[in-house]
Amino acid sequence: MKVVFKWIGIVLGSLVGLIIVAGLVLFLIGNARLNKVYSFEPSNLTIPTDEVSIANGKHRVESLCAGCHGPDLSGVEGWFNAPPIGMIDSANLTSGEGGAGQKFTSDEDWVRAIRHGIDPQGKPLFMPAVSSTAYLSDEDLASIIAYVKSVPPVDHKVKERYFTPMARILVAAGVLGKLPAEGVSHDIHVSAPERGVSAEYGEYLVNTHDCRVCHGPDLNGGPFPDPTITKISPNLTPGGELDFWTEEDFINTIRTGKTPSGHELDPYFMPWNYINLFYDDELKAVFMYLQSLPKLEQYTE
Ligand code: HEC
Ligand code: HEC
Repeated sequence: MKVVFKWIGIVLGSLVGLIIVAGLVLFLIGNARLNKVYSFEPSNLTIPTDEVSIANGKHRVESLCAGCHGPDLSGVEGWFNAPPIGMIDSANLTSGEGGAGQKFTSDEDWVRAIRHGIDPQGKPLFMPAVSSTAYLSDEDLASIIAYVKSVPPVDHKVKERYFTPMARILVAAGVLGKLPAEGVSHDIHVSAPERGVSAEYGEYLVNTHDCRVCHGPDLNGGPFPDPTITKISPNLTPGGELDFWTEEDFINTIRTGKTPSGHELDPYFMPWNYINLFYDDELKAVFMYLQSLPKLEQYTE
């Protein structure tokens, strides 16, 4: 008997040992991914100073950035807060105390953050929106930077991002998906189709406004990006309810948050209260693009 116990002891002991070693290896891999230094050719964008460009930048920032960085862009504390994983404040973008406008020393620092998802030292930022902002055209990105640099300074020191050792293990094990900097194309220059009511321009707006993050890569619905929320986003292709909508129905839905069938969209899940800042022509282009998609069945788990 004693011999059997001894063997069980050795097997269990080695298993625990293996798990600890595996955990340590994963921890080191996760750490290496979070601390990897990226380097890209500079885009050398010319940041405009004219009123039209700054107004364009303001328009994009209000629908695209303010939801996470706050209406005055001074950052939101505890933007991501899950104690076993860590805590992330969204950054203060203004030139007030604690703001990126004070910390950043060149326009290229802005390009690195918004287009590539890396900080001035080249290390990955945890800004998921990079999956959209990486595809902003040179012109839109430059006007966004121009506008952000022009907003009134707000003193607000946000906290350093904090990830637990468990988060590093989960990153390495792939449970938390790709880091933003790992998932985008990193083109140095990006152009956009001509502005107007066209399916091409609608596609550009969809790609740069996170619709696919929730509605799925093919827009036929998908799981919610936050794994703690079990909501499934609806199908936006002609395989879904939108097939029965007119352009006016679509615009009304985004403007009021109420669909033609009377369903009220919850802004906590579907950010219609930001998308409704799109101009009518932009919503028309988005609708035209959605209607041009192949008819796909609703995504289910
Ligand atoms: C989905 C939420 C979200 C959206 C949308 C978003 N951001 Fe961020 N952003 C964040 C978070 C969170 C951080 C902090 C990341 C970190 O600390 O790793 C951040 C960081 C940044 C940084 C780096 C600041 C610094 O101090 O290092 C810049 C610059 C930035 N965002 C600009 C923008 C701009 C401009 C837009 C719109 C075009 C935008 N963000 C849209 C969440 C968002
Ligand atoms: C953060 C996730 C998220 C993002 C980003 C998002 N949506 Fe949604 N959307 C949802 C969810 C979830 C619903 C269902 C909401 C409900 O039933 O309350 C929805 C509903 C809709 C509906 C109503 C569809 C129907 O059949 O009733 C439309 C239209 C829509 N979204 C369009 C868009 C467009 C266009 C974009 C990008 C500009 C977008 N959404 C971005 C999550 C999102």
